Amino acid sequence: MNNFIYYNPTAILFGRGQADAVGERMAPLGRNILLLSGGASAERSGLLDRVREKLRTAGVAYTELPGVKPNPVIEKVREGAALCKSRRLDAVLSVGGGSVLDSAKVIASAARHEGDPWELLAKKIKPANPLPVGCVLTLAATGSEANGNAVISNPATAQKLAWYHPQAYPRFSILDPELTFTVPREHTAYGAVDIMAHVFEQYFHDVQATPLQDGVAETVLRTVAATAPIAMARPDDYASRANLMWASTLALHGVVGAGVVGDWTCHMLEHELSAKYDIAHGAGLAVVYPAWMELMAPRKPARFRQFAVNAWGIDPRGRDDLAVAREGVAATRSFFRDTLGVGVRLSDYGIAPDRLNEMAQAVYDLKGPTGLGGLTREDLERVYRGAL
Ligand code: NZQ
Ligand code: ZN
Repeated sequence: MNNFIYYNPTAILFGRGQADAVGERMAPLGRNILLLSGGASAERSGLLDRVREKLRTAGVAYTELPGVKPNPVIEKVREGAALCKSRRLDAVLSVGGGSVLDSAKVIASAARHEGDPWELLAKKIKPANPLPVGCVLTLAATGSEANGNAVISNPATAQKLAWYHPQAYPRFSILDPELTFTVPREHTAYGAVDIMAHVFEQYFHDVQATPLQDGVAETVLRTVAATAPIAMARPDDYASRANLMWASTLALHGVVGAGVVGDWTCHMLEHELSAKYDIAHGAGLAVVYPAWMELMAPRKPARFRQFAVNAWGIDPRGRDDLAVAREGVAATRSFFRDTLGVGVRLSDYGIAPDRLNEMAQAVYDLKGPTGLGGLTREDLERVYRGAL
């Protein structure tokens, strides 16, 4: 196991009714806050009204900024940061999924930055003492609720860039599984793919002697495989929504990745797809990951064999590692396509091969050869082509 620093300052309030604590949790962080939300879902479900009432009761004044869209764009961040500055707001509350929360984190830092907010992402700037961020989460997927990451798109440059700031972790995240009962089928599925993908990124490493990390990772995968289909069939099944929500947090709040080496190539390949074609993050991952696994399984057969056996329950007897590994890859693609009903080919999203070269180059330019788990520029394009 490698050396590591585990750091996670986010307080998690998990379970039924926890959203009622939003006022008392927010009040110590700010008395004049930005209330950030997405499209219509939180209004429609009554959640926003409930949050407003709790804020008022706790003596917290708020300026509302709705309209953060999936694959959140920098223009909304600019709007939010300008409001924070002009109205001297002192904290940001995110009510929504990962897109709202990622925007909230960057707004909170951009409020402390003199230049354009896009500079934070493009130049990896981390302003000191960003505004504190609180979160009421409505979708299980990203793990953003307990990490310092944000991912923002810039249509003007056709980029979608990830950013990390150790001071960007939400101060608290309210995880009430009942708030996810209204998540549509396809977004429940995309969320399940994303949770699994976060585990994959931190699982196929070469670090030795990591049985604890492996075990947590494999358990998260089995939990998602068991519960996502139930949540899709019965959206108000509390147990499956609860397990998915906690799996989302566990996958990307630092424990699975502690002491190992994360990869994140597939996330970068996906972010290019979202940047160029505005497809959902989970949809892009369902396309990229099986193709990446097909390339990588022959390079790491023993590791992929372990994955096949422990994540998918494949019986390895009588076969060599690679044969078992390949069955694990097929099981992954089949779970995405047949069980979750998510497209696993670029053509499923109407994406033609004309920009694959350009996208592979963009990923390569961002990360370079050492940051890509040994993958060459040609390998990156091979992954895209394998997903056609
Ligand atoms: O906008 P509204 O009306 O709320 O609708 C949203 C949106 O259409 C809807 N939704 C959310 N909660 C709902 C609901 N609909 C009904 N009931 C609810 N309770 O779901 C749709 C998708 O929402 P979004 O926030 O975009 O989804 P998600 O949470 O999957 O976030 C995706 C974004 O996070 C980034 C992705 O790249 C993508 O931009 N990521 C962030 C990460 C991080 N910060 O650590 C890591 C991830 O790998 C990922 O890259
Ligand atoms: Zn992701």
